[in-house]
Amino acid sequence: MSETPETALRRALEMIEPEMLRESARTDGGYVELLPDVPAPNPSPASIAMNNRVVAAIYEKLWRPFGVSLMGIAGMSMSAERAKAVADLRLRGPQQVLDVACGPGNFTKFLSEALTGDGLAVGFDISEAMIARAVRDNRGPRAAYVRGDAAHLPYPDAAFDAVCCYAALYLVPEPMAVLDESIRVLRPGGRIAIMTSCQPGPAPLGSMVGFGTGLAGVRMLPKNQFTDAFAAAGMTAIEQDIRGLAQFVSATKT
Ligand SMILES: C[S@@+](CC[C@H](N)C(=O)[O-])C[C@H]1O[C@@H](n2cnc3c(N)ncnc32)[C@H](O)[C@@H]1O
Repeated sequence: MSETPETALRRALEMIEPEMLRESARTDGGYVELLPDVPAPNPSPASIAMNNRVVAAIYEKLWRPFGVSLMGIAGMSMSAERAKAVADLRLRGPQQVLDVACGPGNFTKFLSEALTGDGLAVGFDISEAMIARAVRDNRGPRAAYVRGDAAHLPYPDAAFDAVCCYAALYLVPEPMAVLDESIRVLRPGGRIAIMTSCQPGPAPLGSMVGFGTGLAGVRMLPKNQFTDAFAAAGMTAIEQDIRGLAQFVSATKT
């Protein structure tokens, strides 16, 4: 069967648990819409930006590179970050990958290109503006998009071979709920890779940075929060790479 963006969308729809697929779910926008008529919440300036069509349009080329430079991810281009995600997730062959909080699909499409055969990368985000951009710019024969809330993923346990969540856990009000859901939908032996903020050292620098970013709705998360959470979940092969104000953490589910 030839793979097209339409077959990828149909397969992304089929992965969703039937009871989570409301009668009102739609695909007419080129993605699976699980929250029709429910706008994304806007609890902070950063969230408001993520739901804005102009920001969605400039996110991949301007907004993210600028934000990442503020985080001091020294010398790491987005292509290097994408390659790191593929390597940390050990992506290959016909795997099913979930890209949680995918924004405009700037990683999803790239992840999908590491797959072959029945491989599929599903980009999942709550922002209509971001998902619309993802459909426009980053659909592919193995890349499709779903709009929903990552704190309540509409998938059965162990549905995915790999889960990626980059540049999002510092924005969501309940990052550990999103993390728990991401681990739940990962199959045993599968890899998870996250990129999020990392609290700088002790006061006064730590509190100054934390206060400034907190006003914008971006939280500085403790250095051990995710390594500890993965260890507590019984995960193995936990790797952490701290760069400036960012941390990359990956692990294998047992
Ligand atoms: C900064 S973007 C990250 C995009 C991409 N992963 C990257 O690394 O560039 C953060 C995304 O998180 C999404 N997001 C925030 N809360 C969410 C939630 N509860 N469920 C799904 N997506 C969420 C926002 O809509 C936004 O598109």
